[in-house]
Amino acid sequence: MESAEIARRYLRYFEQNGHTVVPSASLIAEDPTLLLVPAGMVPFKPYFLAQRTPPAKRMTSCQKCVRTPDIEEVGKTTRHATFFQMLGNFSIGDYFKEQAIPFAWELLTRSQSDGGFGFPEEKLWVTVLHDDDESAEIWHKDVGVPMDRIQRRGLADNFWHMGVPGPGGPCSEIYYDRGPEHGREGGPEADEDRYLEVWNLVFMQYQLGKVRSKVDFDIAGDLPAKNIDTGMGLERMAILLQGVDNIYEVDTMWKVLDRAAQLTDSRYGANENDDVSLRVVADHVRAGMMLVADGIIPSNEGRGYVLRRILRRAVRKLRLLGGQERGMMHELTATAIAAMGDQYPELVRTAANIHTVIDAEEESFARTLRTGESIFDVAVQESKGSGREVVGGADAFKLHDTYGFPIELTLEMAAEQGLTVDEEGFRRLMKEQRERAKRDAREKKTGNADVSVLGDLLERAGGTIDFLGYRDFTAEARVLGILVNGANVTEAAQGAEVEVVLDRTPFYAEGGGQLADHGVIRFMGGAEVEVTDVQSPMTGLIVHRGRVRSGLARSGDTVLAEIDVSRRKAISRSHTATHMVHKGFRAALGESAAQAGSENSPGRFRFDFTASGAVPPSVLRDVEAEVNEVLIDDLEVRAFTTSQTEAVAMGAMALFGEKYGDEVRVVEVGDYSRELCGGTHVGTSGQLGLIKLLGESSIGAGVRRIEALVGMDAFRFLARESVLVAQLSDQVKARREELPERVAGLVTRLREAEKDLERLRAEQVLAASAGLAEGARDVNGIAFVGHRAPDGTGADDLRRLAVDVRSRLQGRPSVVMVAGVPKDRPVVVIAVDERARELGRKAGKLVSLAARTLGGGGGGKDDLAQGGGSDAGKIAEALNVVEHAVGAE
Ligand code: ALA
Repeated sequence: MESAEIARRYLRYFEQNGHTVVPSASLIAEDPTLLLVPAGMVPFKPYFLAQRTPPAKRMTSCQKCVRTPDIEEVGKTTRHATFFQMLGNFSIGDYFKEQAIPFAWELLTRSQSDGGFGFPEEKLWVTVLHDDDESAEIWHKDVGVPMDRIQRRGLADNFWHMGVPGPGGPCSEIYYDRGPEHGREGGPEADEDRYLEVWNLVFMQYQLGKVRSKVDFDIAGDLPAKNIDTGMGLERMAILLQGVDNIYEVDTMWKVLDRAAQLTDSRYGANENDDVSLRVVADHVRAGMMLVADGIIPSNEGRGYVLRRILRRAVRKLRLLGGQERGMMHELTATAIAAMGDQYPELVRTAANIHTVIDAEEESFARTLRTGESIFDVAVQESKGSGREVVGGADAFKLHDTYGFPIELTLEMAAEQGLTVDEEGFRRLMKEQRERAKRDAREKKTGNADVSVLGDLLERAGGTIDFLGYRDFTAEARVLGILVNGANVTEAAQGAEVEVVLDRTPFYAEGGGQLADHGVIRFMGGAEVEVTDVQSPMTGLIVHRGRVRSGLARSGDTVLAEIDVSRRKAISRSHTATHMVHKGFRAALGESAAQAGSENSPGRFRFDFTASGAVPPSVLRDVEAEVNEVLIDDLEVRAFTTSQTEAVAMGAMALFGEKYGDEVRVVEVGDYSRELCGGTHVGTSGQLGLIKLLGESSIGAGVRRIEALVGMDAFRFLARESVLVAQLSDQVKARREELPERVAGLVTRLREAEKDLERLRAEQVLAASAGLAEGARDVNGIAFVGHRAPDGTGADDLRRLAVDVRSRLQGRPSVVMVAGVPKDRPVVVIAVDERARELGRKAGKLVSLAARTLGGGGGGKDDLAQGGGSDAGKIAEALNVVEHAVGAE
């Protein structure tokens, strides 16, 4: 059974049982405690906590997930993957275990011809939390599982939570017995490879407080209702339903694995090392592609770093497999897109963009790889030079950590040089790094205190705070909470830095590239808070940050919230302009020019998008002209909400990381551009006045940035340019349109004049040459010329003169010394001919004598050398010293 079919069956079954099918959320978690979505329940968390009202009480989804803590295990075990899909059914205060358990059993055991998965009952085992008699009873009495196939286990296996304060509960897991060839008898308790976990049913009923470890946590209380969260690994099911041995051999991964084997000329199954590499490539290419498709760009922090690590590991593994050429990632990504495109049509739609990002990362890693290799070579030389036969652990660690070299690669390269690697030292450093990371993570988590305070406020607001700012610039509201240093306070005095939460607000929280509104909150009690930032730390919540300007700000007060209207209008102009420019670039460069970020500030905006190279100036000019034309048409800018499907059908540009809810907001500029967007905009495009693109630049592999001005800022920029042009034309006495030609003419003339000057100076210097040669003194059989050139003669000219004089003394052994002061320090050049050299006079040696006298240093070859010093007053002395040395036998 194909993966896509497994997902379809699951969703259909629960849909038939009254569940609403919810599309997968983006991998970019909305939850401030998570980087990426690691489980199917993440989008449902606010419903479990009753922070938001669910669209339905029964829902089902196939959620994209990424987990990387066990990345080193990928390829080595049967079932570790960084990207996987979790099928789940969710009940928000509707059914509980009495129904969740039979639902699961029914779907697993119903025949395939009837829409089920067709597992024989006797192959299935279940586990429950040790004292969860209730679940054991449902399994035994209602479902009919024999007692000896129901195992009781501890918190480590049968209690599920997110590792942070939040929802949690006991769980019951279902395992499939793959048969004696896969391991020992005795159920999941005995062997989790033979008995493969396929489904986890979590009975979400507690609100957890502190979470110290998987098994050590505080239960703060009950959740507002008893809920169900289940998770079935789609890829694990595919192992069983496709009769393969491990997760890397299921249809969607196998295609990539097989292609990687072809490209690298390796054979899967020939040796364990290559097999592991091929599996890693298959898993990582798929994960990398899915992350890029959700709008993540490789970088050195956060999600971008997770992506970078995954992509680079894939490239390295390809190299280990013998794949040296670039472009393999492109091929493999194309295969992965084709393999997953059935389930995720957006992959096919945005393929060009996915390729741009992944190709660029492969390219940039290829460069790091080379640097890493030279660092390795230096390390090898050092080891060999000091008679050691070991590459140090610190070097191996640096290669791993900074250049992304896997230890296997370092080991292999060392072996080729007849060396070993201090693996113990390497592992120690790795361990230290892991501990540092854990410590960091722990420290980060303590920040959660804030999150729960904010969660409470959100709950008080009924799960969401009304944003009125699409229509209103001022609004009356009630203060739900005032935070000082993250703690809820009842009042804050003048001067205090505060965070204010209102039940409704006209203030726009920074998001979607649009900067926050500024303004003021006037309290009925007389206090005023000046708002300088507005953020939305969790979905539905809006937090105003600022300072109490006067009075005593009290929680519970009624206030008048007023935004700075001119700032807002300027920001809105930028935001509408960004949409238009985005559209313009897509039209000019194709779909691959997808937005990768933006910032809309008053009068100015920047817009980042993926592109494989620089955008030609002609395209910049064309797009600029096009958007300005459209803007003059004064199109109506309209915002409306509709369903996600409807919006996509209308051709709305669904940006990456879009949160797939039921309703989305679409902003359209006439029929020119249509985008999903939560930001604020102008009423008609004419209000933008003018858009001026300032230029484009690279901000990282495969990502370009356009900076632009809009409205009066654009006008002022052009007005300034116009003044500059007027000044120039006045200066060079030419009409505007003649300026380029006139300036080009001036530049050419200037260059010619400089050349003439140069020639004249050289002639002048050399003019002295004949006289100097004639005046050569005989010093012990050697013709010696010692000359001080006029101050200001350049070092090049000094050298030219010395060589020229030497050439005029042909036939006699000769030494020519020319000294001078080009700027403020003395320079000396000495030229020695071949016969004098045979007599033992060396330019390098003589120059160092002279330079020492001048208080400096220098040297060089035997025939021509140059030096310098700091004391120009000693030039005469230096000439004497050299003459003396030339005369000495
Ligand atoms: N939330 C549960 C899991 O991720 C179903 O395993």
